[in-house]
Amino acid sequence: MFSERINRIQPSATLEMTAKAAELRKQGIDVLNLSVGEPDFNTPQNIIDAAKKAIDLGHTKYTPGAGILELKEAACYKLKRDNHLDYNPENIIVSCGGKHSLYNACQVLFEKGDEVIIFKPYWVSFPDFVSVTGATPVFVNTIAKKQYEPDFSDLKNKITSKTKAIIINSPSNPTGGVWSDQAILETLEIANKNDLWVFSDECYEQLVYDGDFKSIATFQNEKEKILTFQSCSKTYSMTGWRIGYTAGNIELIKAMSKLQGQSTSCPNSIAQYAAVEALSGDQSTVSSMSNIFNKRRELIVNGLNSIEGIKCEKPNGAFYVFPDIKSFIGKKFNGKVINSSSDFSLQLLKDKYVVTVSGDAFGSADNIRFSYATSEQIIQKMLQRLKEFCFAIK
Ligand SMILES: Cc1ncc(COP(=O)(O)O)c(C=O)c1O
Repeated sequence: MFSERINRIQPSATLEMTAKAAELRKQGIDVLNLSVGEPDFNTPQNIIDAAKKAIDLGHTKYTPGAGILELKEAACYKLKRDNHLDYNPENIIVSCGGKHSLYNACQVLFEKGDEVIIFKPYWVSFPDFVSVTGATPVFVNTIAKKQYEPDFSDLKNKITSKTKAIIINSPSNPTGGVWSDQAILETLEIANKNDLWVFSDECYEQLVYDGDFKSIATFQNEKEKILTFQSCSKTYSMTGWRIGYTAGNIELIKAMSKLQGQSTSCPNSIAQYAAVEALSGDQSTVSSMSNIFNKRRELIVNGLNSIEGIKCEKPNGAFYVFPDIKSFIGKKFNGKVINSSSDFSLQLLKDKYVVTVSGDAFGSADNIRFSYATSEQIIQKMLQRLKEFCFAIK
């Protein structure tokens, strides 16, 4: 009945877990939700005020399809201020969140017969963005101990004459890994040699804890085939406002704008004015949120590593940890065999009311993802429950 296209994609596993948590909470259960992919802070007041002002001023109508000029200019200003990148408004398209930007770019560039490199573990949506176009996602291994940088021999092996692009996401969801300069340079060299498009999903760029973030497009002068995707969602705790933007090649930005004009018309007008304030106004909340996340990172990584059987790398960015729970697979909890990370995650939910996302959803069968975008108190409670759960696995 439905198109072949829609059968090619899966529902979002992370959104499914969020829905499960909400269901249990409705029943009055003390659920600890560590599956959330958004900051637990309010949107900063200056941004909220800018939105209210936009309403009062009557900015409540359709805007140009690719976004208002003020916001494109604010994005250029931000890219220069924070990332040392020079772009003009013609290089920018504003979309309904980073997810929409990435979706649009895949639609514009990929089709049946193309192959697109995705590093594993990957953000849940990347394979589906590629598959829905008819192109084939090709997965490349990474090295957990090295912040999930590429396994370069695997990368070289996976490139064929059909490879059209590489999708990079550093800092990464689900691992929190941040690639070194060396890893980025090596990846770009391979991309250039094979004339590939490079997608750099930088939605967690402001959440890097040890050292500074460097945008991938700053690594070379020639950036015609590099697309930089950023978003207001995580940086300004604006996930529900749905504003993301892409910087890149003018012709590609025009093509994305054409598609957007025939799908959503334009991003929300009020949210766009709020985003101008987010990108160009007071930035103090960005570092205060990041400092809080950093403290929680210490707490959760140390706590997880203190539980026998769990191994957790210390990621350098985002607000996720991706511990290895392989030692429990094949063992029993309450007489039931845990066959996969999905079983582990579901049992943990059923027995201890702790919500996580299993690694299977991210292409990694031995891990589960915890988001630490939640209070220290909840992290501590979760660690206690997890310890009891793991202790009971025999
Ligand atoms: C890696 C990654 N990219 C993009 C997004 C999209 O975020 P948004 O559409 O809210 O900008 C997310 C959200 O979870 C993400 O984790």
